[in-house]
Amino acid sequence: MRLVLQRRRSPPTHLVIPMQTATAIAHPNIALVKYWGKRNTALNLPAVPSLSLTLDTFRTRTQVVWGVEHDAVHIDGAPAPEAFARRVTDFLDVISPRRPGCMVLTENNFPSGAGLASSASGFAALAVAATRAAGRTDDRTALSIIARRGSGSACRSLFGGFVEWPMGQRPDGSDSHGIPLAARSYWAVAMVVAVVTDRKKSVASTEGMELSRRTSPFYKSFVDTAAIDLDMARDAVYDRDLEALGTVMERSTLKMHSVMMTTDPAILYWLPNTLAVLHAVRELRSQGIGAWATMDAGPQVKILCMSTDSDRVVDAIRPHAHRIHVLHPGPGASLDEEE
Ligand code: PMV
Repeated sequence: MRLVLQRRRSPPTHLVIPMQTATAIAHPNIALVKYWGKRNTALNLPAVPSLSLTLDTFRTRTQVVWGVEHDAVHIDGAPAPEAFARRVTDFLDVISPRRPGCMVLTENNFPSGAGLASSASGFAALAVAATRAAGRTDDRTALSIIARRGSGSACRSLFGGFVEWPMGQRPDGSDSHGIPLAARSYWAVAMVVAVVTDRKKSVASTEGMELSRRTSPFYKSFVDTAAIDLDMARDAVYDRDLEALGTVMERSTLKMHSVMMTTDPAILYWLPNTLAVLHAVRELRSQGIGAWATMDAGPQVKILCMSTDSDRVVDAIRPHAHRIHVLHPGPGASLDEEE
């Protein structure tokens, strides 16, 4: 179902809200140490720390017009599906509960909802554009905290390169946001994305995480061992040790998918070609090519390697992938200065 939200927004009558607009760009990030589980669902506070790499090339571009009569949300040139539009307007309410009507125009240059982290780039871009359109000048940490409310992983896309997202301790989440570890230029790695299907994912992450927390016998061990993985991954980034980083990255993703698979009912994102790509990556390693795999809430496989090895990786996985993208470390979210 398509929807343009018709609820009339009524700002206080004594105020005339001038129409303001801002546009932002953000890139998806891929977790190397995975986030799966929340300690607070309303605030998207994670049960585990995570560590990610922000990518280039794939991007979300979002324009917000603040101060129109009715809310309206468009994605990729068409009115957004109802659930999507609701998520966007709920997020705008978090930014400003007594806001005026807003128009949101967002577009992705890559498939959304298919396990390619479009919600991370989407809410990072929306946080930057909406706050600026509202006349605010939040710093990057504040924007990261805001973006987290839309989608947990979005808090990492405020920053470029390698980013840590600590769990934080405070109940209000003010210490749970992205922290930059190393800039995009720090290390010439590549993330080769094997798209094995463009079909949308069947289980959304929030629903899946909650189900896993309640039913998977492996959930507790995933949570209990996450801090160790995080420490190893952070050290590996600082040491530019790809083997150490790749090893802990694969361990973290296989643990997360073990939790998913042992959730009741089971969450099985893998397709036959997912497994074929994972085996091709192991075969590459046995030939001395440094390549390691990670996966998110979907069947696609992302392979971390040195940039100089990406052609070898592409050749090895080509028979099993529907499409392949070779991506590199990218920048944090920012305003689109063309505006
Ligand atoms: O931020 P969410 O709700 O889209 O959750 C992201 C979960 C994973 O992509 C599976 C892992 C991660 O750390 O990004």
